[in-house]
Amino acid sequence: MTRRILLGVSGGIAAYKACELTRLLVKAGCSVQVAMSDAATRFVAPLTFQALSGRAVALDLWQPQAADGMDHIALARAADAFVVAPASADLLAKAAQGRGDDLLSNLLLARDALPTLLAPAMNRAMWANPAVQRNVALLRGDGVRLAGPASGEQACGETGEGRLLEPEQLLAEIDALLTPQSLRGRRVLLTAGPTHEPWDEVRFLGNRSSGKMGWALARAAWERGAEVVLVAGPSALAPPHGVRTLEVQTAQQMRDAVFAELQRARVDLFIAAAAVADWRPAAAVSGKLKKQPGAAPPALELALNPDILAEVAALADAPFCVGFAAEAGDLHAQAQAKRMRKGVPLLVGNLGAQAFGRDDNAVVLVDAHGVRELPRASKLELARRIVDEAAARLGALNPTPER
Ligand code: CTP
Repeated sequence: MTRRILLGVSGGIAAYKACELTRLLVKAGCSVQVAMSDAATRFVAPLTFQALSGRAVALDLWQPQAADGMDHIALARAADAFVVAPASADLLAKAAQGRGDDLLSNLLLARDALPTLLAPAMNRAMWANPAVQRNVALLRGDGVRLAGPASGEQACGETGEGRLLEPEQLLAEIDALLTPQSLRGRRVLLTAGPTHEPWDEVRFLGNRSSGKMGWALARAAWERGAEVVLVAGPSALAPPHGVRTLEVQTAQQMRDAVFAELQRARVDLFIAAAAVADWRPAAAVSGKLKKQPGAAPPALELALNPDILAEVAALADAPFCVGFAAEAGDLHAQAQAKRMRKGVPLLVGNLGAQAFGRDDNAVVLVDAHGVRELPRASKLELARRIVDEAAARLGALNPTPER
């Protein structure tokens, strides 16, 4: 189903990022209606948004073409979500106080029950101003979702909190805005990516895992409102938005990070998506192993790594555990056998060669009742289905606690 996004753009230099956001939304199959404040048109020409969205930009409360003079009501009714990015200090003030002196503020007034996301962007001192913070608190109280701002370098040359989130992050926020919050109040811990087991200072044993599936699972859990911690092996991927990411290299470090997290706070759901190296070089060599002329190649003795998933699943107060199985053949039988060996209620099986590094995958879901196939889809789509399965089982076992 096409999602209809009403994208408000208010005045600020970050308005240029809203152009990229429009492009990403259109690419994701959304229909986008842009509405700009007068100040926003000083930063980006409406024609840019018109070209990117394929629709005329709504600019003026007094547009004569609105047959009944009720254009703003119709625009707000014709959307599934209302996103304002960037949201300036002035826009936040108008929204918090219910003022309506231009098209954008009138749209906010007329939005009714439309899910609404405001992404503030302004100078760090403006953002820290108590008046702005008061308005933000009021808006949160009204059920508006706020995204960002991020911290970093600002267009004005200062550094601090006030940057608009990046377009990809805004896209994730919009997905979350439109997703039922089935994991709100839950803590989710994941492992993902490969591990690197050092042999000497420049060599390691590793595997072909890219981390894409685990990253997608972390995002899917975050979209559903969970507090998410990702213990991530070495990967080229940027840390997922909204997720606390702990970077590790080896299986032992991954295990230690997982157990430290389990001790820090109660975890409701543990998803082990990492391709953990089963073995490591028994003794890591300091420096670099050098070739000796005429000498035989060095022997590589291996030691067994801890099995993180099996260890977590065996805890007396274990969280609900979801395992993965990367197999080379006979997927159904191997995955069911592995689920029982690891002692987990739910396991996701895939053929390693058809999964590693790709953006899509085909998996089987294995539980005590049998095996169910999820046909080939993007890893994000599969991750959403897997997390929904886990959330439903978790909810049935143990209703969301009050925190
Ligand atoms: N796993 C883990 N720690 C390990 C090995 C695996 O936590 N040392 C987890 C993986 O994250 C995955 C599941 O166990 O959720 C199965 O991983 P897989 O590599 O398919 O299985 P192995 O246990 O390594 O068994 P085998 O290689 O013999 O198939």
